[in-house]
Amino acid sequence: MDRTVSYEGHRRPLTSFQVTVLGDGAVFVGLVANHSVVDGTSFWHFFNTWAGLCRGEPVQPPDFSRNFFGGSTAVLRFSGRDGPAVTFDASAPLRERVIHFSAASIRGLKAAANRCRKSNEDDEVKGKLVHDLKVQGGCGEISSFQSMCAHMWRAVTRARLQLAADAKTTFRMAVNCRHRLRPKISPVYFGNAIQSVATTATVAELASHDLGWAAARLHATVVAHEDGAIRKAAADWEAAPRCFPLGNPDGAALTMGSSPRFPMYDGNDFGWGRALAVRSGRANKFDGKMSAFPGQAGDGSVDVEVCLAPDTMGRLLCDDEFLQFVSHAPSP
Ligand SMILES: *[C@@H]1O[C@H](CO)[C@@H](O)[C@H](O)[C@H]1NC(C)=O
Repeated sequence: MDRTVSYEGHRRPLTSFQVTVLGDGAVFVGLVANHSVVDGTSFWHFFNTWAGLCRGEPVQPPDFSRNFFGGSTAVLRFSGRDGPAVTFDASAPLRERVIHFSAASIRGLKAAANRCRKSNEDDEVKGKLVHDLKVQGGCGEISSFQSMCAHMWRAVTRARLQLAADAKTTFRMAVNCRHRLRPKISPVYFGNAIQSVATTATVAELASHDLGWAAARLHATVVAHEDGAIRKAAADWEAAPRCFPLGNPDGAALTMGSSPRFPMYDGNDFGWGRALAVRSGRANKFDGKMSAFPGQAGDGSVDVEVCLAPDTMGRLLCDDEFLQFVSHAPSP
């Protein structure tokens, strides 16, 4: 099923698992899942429920209700016999590295983002920025995830030397809609309840402002994605259904997937001990694709799997401003 892209879901499995016992007794669990069917929240609930059953512990059943948006009549149409196709060049050269941020670095990034933002607000205390942030409800604390994303956004954009100063860059991330809809959806709703949200800024804007500025923009996008915005996105999709156009066509985009908050180590002990590592496979990877994972130690550290064009990766791993928050990075 690796890299399967088709409308074969009626005949082919929506998920498959492969368990490999290695020579030294270590166990490797590999899997694929159809992302139309589950998002990360549902996937980890499923996986950890499975592990819980193996340990003989009580489990919380998922919520299979399907009554949030009414019956959809949307149909995806494709011409002839062709189904959906990959929307990026899957053969383009790509380098992938796992960047480790220690818990102290994550705290440092969050403190830096909130500190610079506070001083930005003080400078413009009667100005429009503060007003806009308030209108968007953007005055709450910037999260550590948003701070880390802003750090990646700025650093990767610095490393993309081919971009003009006035080029527009886009940072995409997924928002969990469960607790944002009114009425709320159960946290154990089984399905895909994420939407992708985009934040934009020009290369020059990112370069001339500090970390707090970029982090505040990401924060404002997420805060604004409440019930009304979610329902509008769903209605827009109903009116013009399409497959999600994954990729980076203008070379100026970043897409953050997964989340350091998913319980990838706490809760999925099958009775063999704590997992040693969680990694994603090779599907859906392109220049600018990143996936966030909690650190294995469970101490608040974060691993970010970063995919970039080879030149960009080379420059990123030599960028001192970037590396000051990185605990250990592979050599360039
Ligand atoms: C993924 O799931 C959707 C929704 O059930 C289905 O239409 C599609 O064919 C599936 N794709 C694959 C590759 O299984």
